[in-house]
Amino acid sequence: MKSAKIIGLGKYLPPKILTNFDLEKMVDTSDEWITTRTGIKERHLAHKNEGASVLAFEASKIAIKNAGIKPADLDLIIVATITPDNQFPSTACHLQNFLKAKKAACFDVSAACAGFIYALTAAWQFIKGGLYKNALVVGSEVMSSITDWSDRSTCVLFGDGAGAVVLTDCPAKEGILSAYLGSDGAEAEMLIVPAGGSRMVATKETVEKKLHTIKMKGNELFKVAVRVMVDAAQKALDGAGLSQKEVSILIPHQANERIINAVAARLEVPANRIYVNIARYGNMSSASTVVALCEAWEEGRIRKDDIVLLDAFGAGLVWGSCAIRWA
Ligand code: UT7
Repeated sequence: MKSAKIIGLGKYLPPKILTNFDLEKMVDTSDEWITTRTGIKERHLAHKNEGASVLAFEASKIAIKNAGIKPADLDLIIVATITPDNQFPSTACHLQNFLKAKKAACFDVSAACAGFIYALTAAWQFIKGGLYKNALVVGSEVMSSITDWSDRSTCVLFGDGAGAVVLTDCPAKEGILSAYLGSDGAEAEMLIVPAGGSRMVATKETVEKKLHTIKMKGNELFKVAVRVMVDAAQKALDGAGLSQKEVSILIPHQANERIINAVAARLEVPANRIYVNIARYGNMSSASTVVALCEAWEEGRIRKDDIVLLDAFGAGLVWGSCAIRWA
């Protein structure tokens, strides 16, 4: 039996930065409120009409270079995104075209903030089963394209960015050790973009009512987030036969620093073993976990044989966790 290990990582954050002080001039908010309630200080914004594929391309070039392979070596490309370039074709197909990764099979995964963990798990299974050897897994989001910039309860939270990893096959018990994925479609209305799909097609009225932007019941989500992230992490650790004490670094989804701290406290992971970068980027949905993983690695906080625990939660509702022995 095989497994899959990460051999290259990359990230891309568009250069434009929107600070809390900029937001103070746009809506009735304050740096103090945003910082104390979320931990966010600033976020990056893509250019208008700069698709998720463009951000994905920049992150992927770096990951592929770090992996020491060529785009032509990729058998599979999965892009996790809820802000795809188009309804179809997939953002993964656009990315394949930019990369000239002609051999790769390509598709997108829609699992919101847990998207990267869902996509990573799918790629792991393809490699484990022997169908493919090399896979590119990307989380890329242009959250600014679905943000209502007049709604202070959501516009202060999100940011744009992309992260990418290259996976290749390896012996079992190395690389990805276990994954746990969960969903609850009964709670879909808690976090949703109501219009623009087949259930509520885009019309002049839906655009005027801003129904193509994020609608969120933040308070209710907060409570669910902590519970399911703790549960997912424990199940992923159980699957790998590991205890919380063996976690070298916890890389959580970056939706709210208070959620991260509550999850870490319940898992009894001390602050020096959690990676938090929400202050600089806000919530980048599927890109958050992979950008955090990439930065932790760039900063030398992940070494060979470390146990890395990814943990995320998002709209769907969906959640997931993945335990990795760093190879
Ligand atoms: O990515 C995965 C999915 N997302 C999440 O998991 C998000 C989870 N939820 C959260 O992170 C938090 O619930 C929020 C950060 C969204 C909100 O924080 P909160 O502490 O739950 O605040 P709240 O919604 O209970 O609002 C408290 C007050 C309200 O005023 P009143 O009714 O108490 O007078 C809001 O109107 O804060 C007000 N408020 C704001 N004030 C200043 C809401 N947004 C803002 C704002 N600036 N930007």
